[in-house]
Amino acid sequence: MQKLDEIILKRQSCRSYDTKPVAKEDIIKCLDAARLAPSACNSQPWKFTVVTEPETKAKLSALLQIVGGNKFADAAPVLIAVSEDECPKLMPGVLERWSCKHFAHCDIGIAIAHFTLKAAESGLATCIMGTFEDCDVKELLDIPKGDTVRAVLALGYPSDDKIRGKNRKELDEIVRFID
Ligand SMILES: Cc1cc2nc3c(=O)[nH]c(=O)nc-3n(C[C@H](O)[C@H](O)[C@H](O)COP(=O)(O)O)c2cc1C
Repeated sequence: MQKLDEIILKRQSCRSYDTKPVAKEDIIKCLDAARLAPSACNSQPWKFTVVTEPETKAKLSALLQIVGGNKFADAAPVLIAVSEDECPKLMPGVLERWSCKHFAHCDIGIAIAHFTLKAAESGLATCIMGTFEDCDVKELLDIPKGDTVRAVLALGYPSDDKIRGKNRKELDEIVRFID
């Protein structure tokens, strides 16, 4: 059993994938970890469109490269579009009063964190990608027009096992204790 701290350090954005395919049961384990994420009013406003079919995957990969980056997505054996439901089911009153808080953005971020950490635990690598035109991805994958694709995840085996150090702000830059 790996410790959560180890998995957190192991999870990193992978931009070089091996061609080895990912077993469907391993993809499902990651999706199930995402499914168990918390969400506002337990609204679970997420959908996952898993793409392994080569032609569709190549088209999706091209849509991720519109600003020149994400070329590595071509080699990833799995691409997963994470979309947000048009009308997340929040408790009466919550949506009207606090819609400005965009709870679903937060919910989807947590689900993606669960997914990527589960993948890391399983020896898989991921990269979260955000540079694409939502409407193009929705059209390609037949995702309902009113939904919003928040991210596309690359999933696969990394081409090497090197773990990079984390480049992060120090705790004293981001934390205030009010004791
Ligand atoms: C919402 C979001 C969008 C991102 N979009 C991209 C992207 O389009 N391409 C990419 O290579 N990395 C993308 N990243 C990965 C970040 O660059 C990466 O998480 C950050 O630099 C920290 O590095 P690490 O993930 O290796 O720890 C994205 C991450 C997030 C959370």
